Amino acid sequence: MTDTTATTFADDVLSGLARRPRTLPAKYFYDEAGSRLFDQITRLDAYYPTRTERAILTHHADEIVDAIGQDAALVEYGSGSSDKTRVLLDALHARRTLAAYVPIDISEAFLHETAGRLRPLYPGLPILPLAADYTQPYTLPGLPDDTSRVVVFFPGSTIGNFERDEAERFLEHVAQVAGPGGALLIGADQWKDADVLRRAYDDPDGVTAAFNLNLLRRINRQLGGDADLDAWAHHVVVNDAERRVEMHLRSGRDQTLHVCGQAFAFREGGTIHTENSHKYDADSLAALASGAGLSRRARWTDDRGWFAVELYEVASTE
Ligand code: AVJ
Repeated sequence: MTDTTATTFADDVLSGLARRPRTLPAKYFYDEAGSRLFDQITRLDAYYPTRTERAILTHHADEIVDAIGQDAALVEYGSGSSDKTRVLLDALHARRTLAAYVPIDISEAFLHETAGRLRPLYPGLPILPLAADYTQPYTLPGLPDDTSRVVVFFPGSTIGNFERDEAERFLEHVAQVAGPGGALLIGADQWKDADVLRRAYDDPDGVTAAFNLNLLRRINRQLGGDADLDAWAHHVVVNDAERRVEMHLRSGRDQTLHVCGQAFAFREGGTIHTENSHKYDADSLAALASGAGLSRRARWTDDRGWFAVELYEVASTE
């Protein structure tokens, strides 16, 4: 398991650095230090998405519980600490409407720790953790017999990390997992004022910069890299045409970066593209989802319309 992961990391880094523009997959931000930094980001004043989504879930909990319906199995993609989910689980559990909670995460240790912490809080609720990469085919655990439907919960606007075409393929995969009668409850950050977006990804405390630079630290540690952390800077682009915020690492001087014995030359100002965070609006996610056979049933948002939580249903096959 560790071996395969390390090999994939090396392959992805080497092929990403060989490509033009140079890129590194955003999923590698989340080693232990990276996960801790991301956690810190979610609590920054400048980073509005997490608290806005939580407020939406809190304010509309009853309607969301109604829309999910009786005896659903809630399958969460990338559950992590299940922090935000607590709001939803509290509301669902208060009305005893949930058949099971299936948190899925790539980090097995974290997952089991979280499941252990949640069980005493929701007595009688089957919690069935699954260690898997939800972007790859996987098998759901056996669900209780009285399960009425599968509802995939994908919060946090993680959908934003996918290119639009990848997002559509991902939604097709979700529709398949949820099956006929199934649903998707998804959080999506919305396009807004460029200054607000920039501040969220280039916060004054430099936490997001540390999060971005941690990727080089991970490459140094795990792949024998020799990146000089002082020679790289966090660089944010608010890309209006693509409706996304981009993170890059920018070389502060001419330099050569070695990874796994291979050399990559950079000019001063040369960049590595490390993340896309696509933003949606009132209709763009629904349009993408309908291409994947998912019809929007409900949409909840905050007063400023900065973030949206939407419920989709798998189009019936009849
Ligand atoms: C976890 C992908 C939703 O794009 O806002 C936060 C990651 N990157 N700050 C996002 C992130 C920089 C985050 N997602």
